Amino acid sequence: MHRRLREEKVFKDPVHNYIHVQDEVIWSLINTPEFQRLRRIRQLGTSYLTFHGAEHSRFSHSLGVYEITRRIISQFERSGYADWPQGDKLVALCAALLHDLGHGPFSHSIEEAFQMHHEDWTCKILLGDTEVGAVMREVSADFPEKVAAVIRKDYENPIVVNLVSSPLDADRMDYLLRDAYFTGVNYGTIDMDRILRMLRPYQGRVVVKESGMHAVEDYLMSRYQMYWQIYFHPVTRSSEIILRQILRRAKELYRNGHSFNFLPHPLPDLFQGNIGVADYLQLDEALMQTAFMQWTRESDELLSDLCSRFLNRKLYKYVELDTPELEMLEEIREAFTRVGLHPEYDMEIDFPTDLPYDVFRPDEGIRQKQILLLDRQDRVREISEVSDIVRSISGLHRGKTHLYYPDNKLSAVMDRLPRKVARIFEQQN
Ligand code: NI
Repeated sequence: MHRRLREEKVFKDPVHNYIHVQDEVIWSLINTPEFQRLRRIRQLGTSYLTFHGAEHSRFSHSLGVYEITRRIISQFERSGYADWPQGDKLVALCAALLHDLGHGPFSHSIEEAFQMHHEDWTCKILLGDTEVGAVMREVSADFPEKVAAVIRKDYENPIVVNLVSSPLDADRMDYLLRDAYFTGVNYGTIDMDRILRMLRPYQGRVVVKESGMHAVEDYLMSRYQMYWQIYFHPVTRSSEIILRQILRRAKELYRNGHSFNFLPHPLPDLFQGNIGVADYLQLDEALMQTAFMQWTRESDELLSDLCSRFLNRKLYKYVELDTPELEMLEEIREAFTRVGLHPEYDMEIDFPTDLPYDVFRPDEGIRQKQILLLDRQDRVREISEVSDIVRSISGLHRGKTHLYYPDNKLSAVMDRLPRKVARIFEQQN
């Protein structure tokens, strides 16, 4: 059963002004414990250590993605486009709302440390014995599976997948605007209303009317700037490295039978690599930070040092490495070991890379990754064929290799390191 609410509900939102909820199922989903948990997970992980405003949660982002999707669909309906499958509106709205449901605390670091993937968790929560699952089963028995199929990108109507996950989707538009707003930078401020007006469904895809090309160029440039100025900021990368090391060290200690002074549920299950849906949902950033605080008093020096670094923002410094220095990595590791440092923890290589826009290559099959323009003669063209700007930034790999290390530990042993190795760390900015 699918019912409209007798009275529309609204959320005040700093980015979209108001978020409108008209369906009973959307309202019920927002009020499940699984969705409310997203209030306790930050959208940008550790970025708040670099940009102190970046405290916004996955809850607000998820509502934003839902609202953008709702506006796009309502524009499609108002325009009467025959290519939009009307029966899929609710599936699309639920997938938009719930697309990040499986994110864990500090998700990217935790995913790397425990080889998990948030999309798998999202599907497990949707299909499992959860309140979210129960609310969706009231729509129809196969409804949770439909929403999960959109998340897995194999839903029968590709246009629904395209709306929620493509190079110009509701997810990206919301996070660019929201992250720009909360970090306080100007790069991500795109003209979303204009882009939304220019979108239309066409032969199983969301395409952009040709006259919207400049707005899309602007969007791709914003995305490019946000990656390098915000998401890949070296201070944020440093805090992520420390976080990954905390998780790695704690897991290692746990598996070696270390007795912790504090090890709340469900961390033992997480460290064993055997955690179920109900326990996974107990994880949030408050729990992790409480554990880190307690671990500053652990007997293991590495763990307690890493935890106080993270909490007190005493992060690792970095130097840039070029090729000859990269070839010396083994030498650096050996030198570290000789002076009593731990190369597995006291140094870490980082190479952030991102493609602002990936031009379609015929061997890749489905054209899901493309942004398509529709001209007045109803011809579809991939945007980089038409736009010089997009052509010049697509395929643009930029990036430098950084070596992160604890400055104070290294200074203490600097005069005992081989000259060749010590010199690398002297170029620090
Ligand atoms: Ni998202």
